[in-house]
Amino acid sequence: MKILAICGSPRKGNTEFMLNKVLESAGDVEKELILLRNLNIKPCTGCDICYNEGKPCPIEDDMEQLYEKLLKADIIVFGSPNYFKNVSGLMKNFIDRTNAIVEPPRLKDKKAAIVCVGGQDLGNIKFCENVLKEFIDDHQMILVGSVIAKAESPEEIKKSTAIIDELEKLGKKLMK
Ligand SMILES: Cc1cc2nc3c(=O)[nH]c(=O)nc-3n(C[C@H](O)[C@H](O)[C@H](O)COP(=O)(O)O)c2cc1C
Repeated sequence: MKILAICGSPRKGNTEFMLNKVLESAGDVEKELILLRNLNIKPCTGCDICYNEGKPCPIEDDMEQLYEKLLKADIIVFGSPNYFKNVSGLMKNFIDRTNAIVEPPRLKDKKAAIVCVGGQDLGNIKFCENVLKEFIDDHQMILVGSVIAKAESPEEIKKSTAIIDELEKLGKKLMK
């Protein structure tokens, strides 16, 4: 059993903390946190060689190793800060590059979860959550749960015991 968490924040802040809490709560299984900000992932060029011809993505960068990790994982947790009612650019860039494994859907039936955080009200943050929900749906993954939270400064989420409780519950639920 392997859990992969993908962090779309460009800073060490709330999203990373939330993902780590979910991983910690999942117990004694193989786990890995991927910080997209530390990887060289170029934007999709729209060549469509992957989608139309079923060939691997021709771009040579860190996405090559990430495809392997995604395919090997049993559970994937996607985390993004809310940026303008959307995921961060780092996360969107990553999402676009998964076009290479969506047809046929190579992540199909893997379990998935979401964490999203933003400085505004939860209604605003739900736009970001929804982008990730649709992404998970496009890949035909199974959404197990989602935690969305309000926090602005990078350390803020650590003070929210209610959110920490939700994150711990999500980690445990993923293992059921
Ligand atoms: C470029 C940018 C755009 C943002 N847009 C929004 C927004 O539209 N709605 C919102 O709720 N928060 C917005 N925020 C606030 C972040 O979502 C918030 O600070 C969050 O805690 C960042 O998570 P992180 O610490 O994991 O990076 C924005 C922040 C930045 C830097």
